[in-house]
Amino acid sequence: MKSSSAVEYRYEQVAERITQLIHLGTLRPGERIPSVRRISRQEGVSISTALQAYFLLEDRGLIEARPQSGFYVRLQSRRLPPEPQIIYPPHAATEVGLGDLVSNILKAARNPDIVPLGVAAISPELLPTTKLHRILASVARRAGIQANRYDFAPGYPELRYQIARRSLDWGCSLSADDVVVTAGCTDALNLCLRAVAGPGDVIAVESPSYFVLLTIPEALQMKALEVPTYPREGVCLDELQIALDRRKVKACLFMTNFHNPLGSCMPDEKKKKLVEILTQRGIPLIEDDIYGDLYHGTSRPRVAKAFDKKGIVLLCSSFSKTLAPGHRVGWTAPGRFRAQVERLKNISTVGNALLPQMMVAEFLQTGGYDHYLRGIRKAFGQQVQVTSRAIGKYFPEGTKVTRPGGGIVLWVEMPAQVDALELYQKALEKNISVAPGPVFSASQGYRNFIRVNCGVRWSDRIEEALFILGREATELANKTASPRRMKVTRS
Ligand SMILES: Cc1ncc(COP(=O)(O)O)c(C=O)c1O
Repeated sequence: MKSSSAVEYRYEQVAERITQLIHLGTLRPGERIPSVRRISRQEGVSISTALQAYFLLEDRGLIEARPQSGFYVRLQSRRLPPEPQIIYPPHAATEVGLGDLVSNILKAARNPDIVPLGVAAISPELLPTTKLHRILASVARRAGIQANRYDFAPGYPELRYQIARRSLDWGCSLSADDVVVTAGCTDALNLCLRAVAGPGDVIAVESPSYFVLLTIPEALQMKALEVPTYPREGVCLDELQIALDRRKVKACLFMTNFHNPLGSCMPDEKKKKLVEILTQRGIPLIEDDIYGDLYHGTSRPRVAKAFDKKGIVLLCSSFSKTLAPGHRVGWTAPGRFRAQVERLKNISTVGNALLPQMMVAEFLQTGGYDHYLRGIRKAFGQQVQVTSRAIGKYFPEGTKVTRPGGGIVLWVEMPAQVDALELYQKALEKNISVAPGPVFSASQGYRNFIRVNCGVRWSDRIEEALFILGREATELANKTASPRRMKVTRS
């Protein structure tokens, strides 16, 4: 649980205190919690601060409002399985060899008969596709023959302007000139990594880490150095400093907000410290913020780039997790590496398709993006909650699940005997895809972990898939124990 020193605002502190009372069992499921008026008196906060705290707890699925009666602890809130702990991977920098397994997971995602719990993707019915298509037709008509030309880096000016405007929400004040448009976030990460490092270099990554953040260095013949990462607050800065003292690290490749697969979100102070450490050592930070807009609580977390005074942070993101994965519109704000990134973009893909950029720019300008985001954030927060509970219900005793404050994935630790690769195979035979833990680690640890996608609208089909997964996992758990590869605490 987050300590109250790690939360910034009074309402968050009040919410934390009530969360503790719920976890301790002082406030029990089904019980009425103190009224807003009473809590405001007790805590010495205004009524609106107390109310904000209750809304936050409601968003997190811990309490519910009952008409004309007040707020109650949700009946199932104690059913959530416990949280996994930080894991310490091996110290050595590793050559990554995940390409084939990752390709198989992505291949399964193309098959509509397979229940898509394996890739971090959003149900098409949750995306505003009809509206986007209408905008696409309208911008194409207006642009006429101009829409059918090369669009070299840095990309369509109006889109870069719209992204720069939104940067105020993340604590930055970018200008359109700071932004380079890319083909999705993957392209942005690829270009940034090539701009700052080359074959044989060592790249620090979080452990666990989204598999594409491992396969990009793999493809570029770089080595990955895994740094232990807390399931709530992101990469361990002490361990990072030890790693940087030991090895020559060329760059860090981190997800600071709603990390995939952990869902962790680095508190602001920690982001600031991270940037200070890396600035002092002259090490660039490639920051993947693709889930930043998908917070389940009440406020958008800042990015590490907000604390970057020297241009060492290369911020990367895209609209794939919010608007339009199929149109491949992403971007980077690469700080002092902008010229290299722009050059690499032009020599690798000669810019981007123009119409999707125009479509996204117009949606940002006129399409009610913030209103739309509020809706999907709520849906994802609920889907994460309901999936966590289903895992608690169907998976073997001893299973642990993360508590993401945003994003669309859950990281599930099963008992040590459950081999996630075996579970992955058995699930595929039953037309269910999951992402097995070893693909989230260069050293292929996390053998008893899986990542579960919650971006798909909850349905009987999803619940049944989780039931089957849980049953298979229970069978594997009942087999004889096998040794774990990674230890939970440092000896
Ligand atoms: C953390 C993270 N970064 C990047 C990507 C890829 O984004 P895009 O589809 O925009 O290339 C994903 C997709 O799952 C992701 O989870």
